[in-house]
Amino acid sequence: MRNWVVEHTAGHWSFLSKPSEQVRLALVVALIGLHGKGTVINFGRARGQLRQWPNPRTCLRYIGVDITAAAFRDAGSSEIASEWVEAGIEAYEPLVPLRGSTLIFSEVLYYVESPDRQLVRLCRALQAACVVVSITVPGLRYPQYRDRVDAIWQALDGLAWHRPAEFDLTDEASGERWRIAALIPS
Ligand SMILES: C[S@@+](CC[C@H](N)C(=O)[O-])C[C@H]1O[C@@H](n2cnc3c(N)ncnc32)[C@H](O)[C@@H]1O
Repeated sequence: MRNWVVEHTAGHWSFLSKPSEQVRLALVVALIGLHGKGTVINFGRARGQLRQWPNPRTCLRYIGVDITAAAFRDAGSSEIASEWVEAGIEAYEPLVPLRGSTLIFSEVLYYVESPDRQLVRLCRALQAACVVVSITVPGLRYPQYRDRVDAIWQALDGLAWHRPAEFDLTDEASGERWRIAALIPS
C-alpha cells in the first residue's frame, strides 16, 4: 500500500511544478472555463498548482480534496476563496450538494478503487454540472497503469455522458502524454 504522506514529505511530487505540467493544468482549467461553472472541487489536489490558473471572476470558490494533508503544504494564497479537505475520494461525503459545481479528477483516478463508481457517486451527491478528467497515457513510463487507464476510459465511455471536448496532449521534451476531457453528467 502506498504511503502518500511519505511521498509528499519526501518531495516525490515536486515535479508537478514543471512547466510541462502547468500546460496540462492550464488546459484542465480552460475546460472548466468553457464548460463548467460554480464551485470547483479538485480531487487529488496535491500541492495545488492548478489553483493559480482559474479566473477569480468566474471561479468564486475552490475546494481541494486530498487523501493526505501533507499534500496541502505550500498552498500559497489566492484571490479565490479556498478550502482544503483531507479525505480519500472513496470516503468523501459532501455535507451539502453544491448544485452546478465542477469536479476535477486530474491524475488521480488510477489510484482509486472503483474509480468510475466513485466519480458517478460524487457527481450525484454534489449535483455536479461538469467533470474534467485528466489521465496520463501510459507509454513506456507507466506501463503498470495501462490496464487501469483503459478500464477507466471504457467505463467513462459506457456512461455515455455528453463529452463536449477531449484533447490528447503531448509534451515531446518530457515524453509525457495525457488525455483530457470535459464531461457533462446526465
Ligand atoms: C499524481 S498526483 C496529482 C496531483 C494533481 N491533481 C495534478 O494533476 O497535478 C495524485 C494526488 O492524488 C492524491 N491521492 C491519491 N489517492 C487518493 C485518493 N484515493 N483520494 C484522494 N486523493 C488521492 C495524492 O495524495 C496526490 O496528491
